[in-house]
Amino acid sequence: MTSRASYGVDGWPYVLGLAGSGALTSLGAVLAARAGRGRWAGALAVAAAGALVPAGLGVDYVRSGKLLLRDRLLDAVTWRGDEVVLDVGSGAGLLGLGAARRVPRGRVHCVDLWVGTDLSGNGVDRLRRNARLEGVADRVDARTVDARELDLPDRSVDVVLSSLCLHNIDDAGRRRAAGEMARVLAPGGTVAVSDLAGTDDLAAWFTADGLRVLRHERVPRTFPPQRWVLAERPR
Ligand SMILES: C[S@@+](CC[C@H](N)C(=O)[O-])C[C@H]1O[C@@H](n2cnc3c(N)ncnc32)[C@H](O)[C@@H]1O
Repeated sequence: MTSRASYGVDGWPYVLGLAGSGALTSLGAVLAARAGRGRWAGALAVAAAGALVPAGLGVDYVRSGKLLLRDRLLDAVTWRGDEVVLDVGSGAGLLGLGAARRVPRGRVHCVDLWVGTDLSGNGVDRLRRNARLEGVADRVDARTVDARELDLPDRSVDVVLSSLCLHNIDDAGRRRAAGEMARVLAPGGTVAVSDLAGTDDLAAWFTADGLRVLRHERVPRTFPPQRWVLAERPR
């Protein structure tokens, strides 16, 4: 897949805040050292590292970790090429557009509320531009839909995907969103969800809703660290 499309910076206010405070405390450390304030310089250098290391890991996730996560989730699905796919909280289309490359005869629904603070440059226009850049616009639908109230019929989706969306929703809402994912999943269908929190609950809710959990494990090169749940609806 090309990398001309931009999939945004997740939680960009935090990354920006960490980078900014890291830069300021680094400057403070240099000035303190020049003024002969060794203990202050040391303390400020430790504080700078405490901000810059997570900022750097966050940037690494955006530059390459999220593409690896996409490939890991999509590789776990056995594709026919004509599936109906749903990306819940699609943002700029990381998972949905990747899936669209694998379903030349299928249909991909990308749904989101396009929250600006969750992803830099978030919006339906950017997702549509990315779909054109990736050459998959003919089979991608993008709509404003809440994960807690999906607009698709029962058992109508072959593959449900989601990354870093559900933790943005409160506990009751996450339970509803998990139930909605299970509701729309067709017999024999697969759901793959990655997130930085709440995946134990998610695996339990999927099981309660009749799905079989196949995998629940850490995703490498993610920051903050994510875990993903892979489940299927038995035929
Ligand atoms: C951190 S971004 C991740 C975007 C994309 N999945 C990715 O991994 O690049 C989280 C996304 O979830 C969306 N979101 C948050 N709450 C939502 C809800 N209740 N329903 C649908 N989307 C939601 C945000 O608008 C944002 O696009």
